[in-house]
Amino acid sequence: MITSSERTYRLLEAQVGLRLAEVETPVAVIDLDRLDANLERLQTYATTHGIALWPHTKTHKAREIGVRQLALGAAGLTVAKSGEAAVFHEAGAERILMHYPPFGEPKAERLAVLAAEGLELTVAVDSVQGAEALSRALARHGAHAALLVELDSGLHRTGQPTVNGALAVARGLSRLPNVTVAGISTYPGHCRGDAAMVHRQILAADELLRATRDAFIDADIDCRRISGGSTPTRYHTHETCVNELRSGTYALHDRNDPADPGVEMGALWIEVSVISDAVADQVVIDAGSKTFTSDSHDDGGNGVIIGRPDARLRQINEEHGYVDVSRDADRPRLGDHLQVIPNHACGCVNLHDALLAVRGGVVESVLRVAGRGVIR
Ligand SMILES: Cc1ncc(COP(=O)(O)O)c(C=O)c1O
Repeated sequence: MITSSERTYRLLEAQVGLRLAEVETPVAVIDLDRLDANLERLQTYATTHGIALWPHTKTHKAREIGVRQLALGAAGLTVAKSGEAAVFHEAGAERILMHYPPFGEPKAERLAVLAAEGLELTVAVDSVQGAEALSRALARHGAHAALLVELDSGLHRTGQPTVNGALAVARGLSRLPNVTVAGISTYPGHCRGDAAMVHRQILAADELLRATRDAFIDADIDCRRISGGSTPTRYHTHETCVNELRSGTYALHDRNDPADPGVEMGALWIEVSVISDAVADQVVIDAGSKTFTSDSHDDGGNGVIIGRPDARLRQINEEHGYVDVSRDADRPRLGDHLQVIPNHACGCVNLHDALLAVRGGVVESVLRVAGRGVIR
């Protein structure tokens, strides 16, 4: 019996060479030229400012895209899970930052095995306990990892909220074997809104980082690495003390970054078909929350339909999307393809076993979402 993932992969592989209008829908599509433009633009920015780019692979979970990010000059890759670290190490990444506390022996063991194989491993933690199992596992394997002390710069999710808290964690970590404190990190996920608001918020967030860096230096604790950033804040990184940037969504784009509405730079969309026009002022498409994700957007919509600003994907069920076409003079017909940029790229990709990679509207290859489901 073949797995559903393999079944999907084979089905998509059979579409290589087809024009997009001919592919079976619904299907997640990556535009390779747009992807490359997005990757190159941020890499150029990072290189220009002497910032090391550590792209977060949670967005695409695809080996080929991680390898491309590294080829363009990324210093390393970021992951959230130890299984993802294994996937990208197998793909050739020599340096990986796991930005997630690795609680529990199995995760610590998995990471230690990778480090013993030669992976240059960094892990961000916000407690001493969060690194104890890792330290023990590394010692068993004769391996080593760098640690970043995570700060809470405003998201209030994980991270030490004060300089003193961070110092205490760093001092405790310094006593553990086979790990070394190398700096600090934060995820400024609270910096959202219009461009001016994001700018204000990221500069405010930077104050805690600077104060912590200075305190680490005074206390003789290594703080050469300062990891931060997100997609909305990425082009402000040079105004902060962050020297390692972990943007993820920038690769594909979606509707979460107000600076980039996603349509021009959106490298990911779902190719869908109109399957019903039975209700007045509406067409129904063959994709819903199991294809797009149910992540919401402030405007209440469920995605942007490329090239149809007057059509609105107003509601989704699991397998159906309701498109309001009351204001669309050119109503789509039964069987027509539409292209929908989802609200949230990372959640969307995670629903798909494989993605169709297209160039110039023709399917060039199939990308496996190799990190899908490795949630431990
Ligand atoms: C810890 C961490 N770092 C970096 C990122 C990347 O953020 P973005 O996708 O906005 O670039 C995320 C996203 O959730 C994250 O959780």
